[in-house]
Amino acid sequence: MTLNTPALTLRQQFAADIHRPRYHFLPPSNWMNDPNGLIQWQGQYHLFYQHNPFGPLWGNMHWGHAVSPDLIHWTDLPLALAPTPDSPDETGIFSGCAVRHGDVPIIFYTGTARPNYDTQTQCLATGSPDLLTWTKAPANPVLGQVPPEAGQTKDFRDPFVWQEGDTWYMVVGSRIQDVGGAVFLYRSTDLHHWDYLHPLLVGAAAVDGVIWECPNFFPLGDQWVLIISSHLGNATGTVLYFVGHYEQQQFTPTARGVLDHGRLYAPLTFVDDAQRRLLFGWLREARSNEDITAAGWAGVQSIPRRLWLDAQQRLCMAPVPELERLRGHRHSLPAQPLDGLTPLPVEGLALDVVASFDVDTDGQAGLCLAGTPDGSAYTAIQYDAATQTLAVERVSPQGRQVVMSAAHPLAAAEPLALRILLDGSVLEIIANDRTSLTDRVYVAGAECCRAWLSGARARLLHLHAWEMPSIWQWSQ
Ligand code: FRU
Repeated sequence: MTLNTPALTLRQQFAADIHRPRYHFLPPSNWMNDPNGLIQWQGQYHLFYQHNPFGPLWGNMHWGHAVSPDLIHWTDLPLALAPTPDSPDETGIFSGCAVRHGDVPIIFYTGTARPNYDTQTQCLATGSPDLLTWTKAPANPVLGQVPPEAGQTKDFRDPFVWQEGDTWYMVVGSRIQDVGGAVFLYRSTDLHHWDYLHPLLVGAAAVDGVIWECPNFFPLGDQWVLIISSHLGNATGTVLYFVGHYEQQQFTPTARGVLDHGRLYAPLTFVDDAQRRLLFGWLREARSNEDITAAGWAGVQSIPRRLWLDAQQRLCMAPVPELERLRGHRHSLPAQPLDGLTPLPVEGLALDVVASFDVDTDGQAGLCLAGTPDGSAYTAIQYDAATQTLAVERVSPQGRQVVMSAAHPLAAAEPLALRILLDGSVLEIIANDRTSLTDRVYVAGAECCRAWLSGARARLLHLHAWEMPSIWQWSQ
């Protein structure tokens, strides 16, 4: 028997909302953005997140908190951190990370203070052994000054901390006035006193964006990876990664890429007990504030992805295999040539799809999901071999519109391999483990759940589609 907590009862009230994901994490209600403070602690995975407990739009930033045994099923826990009046975090607890210092859990976050959110400093809180109670350091902030070379004092946030031997390092997202986004590097021996070293990396505003938020810096294989979330002047921002060597506190990137071409933003990574580097990302909404307010909730976390590098130093990723244990009824299609639209015998808006295709040099292949019963409107995920482009298109009786696209070159004889997670309004697409597009799709009615295979001069090699159940169970 499941005993309903107040949080579960709140979740139950949204059960009829078809846009609301069933197997991705989001808070019981109201606003969420970045994942924060990820840590595996005594076997359990802890997810903290940017949260407005008072409404479905951004503001009043607190840290929400949930715990999971398997990265898929979550239990809601009380708020972890709230602003303290007349303190360095009086107007908000912005993003940050968690580290283990011996037996003690430590959170680093950005405190914001008046005017508005314009005074941003790095603060520390110490956790109780169960991670439920957090005590802010009386000497906060532990890092208060933007380096003078930044030429500005407003944007300085999202500390990411790691340990090398006895020494701790921190990177902070920022910008250098009239130059571009920047990540500043610090060093400490006690976590409370931090010495500024130098910029770890500085971008060019026109190419890489004016502010770099949420830096992650970590070893992966025999390289180091820097991930930043960048304002590129578009509505959503873009997550970039750099791969290279790191020696004597100097980072020399030798490769770079776009981590996601859609709505995934402000990701945070951590290493779990199995030594996997895992990433959660915030999947932004794509609807108006009026629609969000009417819905009563906003923001979803991606299914966590394991990261690795391929031989070409491309950042590769796949949803954690734990998700496979959730899969329900399976539909499979045998290998076959593709010509036009072929109905897929799947039901619902919660699917996990694995498909691979052989596409001629002038061919196309893909899937159409979230379609209306008459087939006149759907979301198309389409690969075009001639341009080597993977695109998400919105098709309706009014026409066809590309929502997002990404270059996706395939090696000779490499099949197109798609992994697609559809969950209410969430669409996560990863092609050949290396090209990620995430979208939010709000279909018009509960009956809108048809799907097709599409293609020309292409062959389906295999397809499995699993219906996915809800991760939430409440008693009736
Ligand atoms: C990224 C971000 C962070 C900041 C947080 C505030 O989405 O802007 O830079 O800490 O959100 O909610």
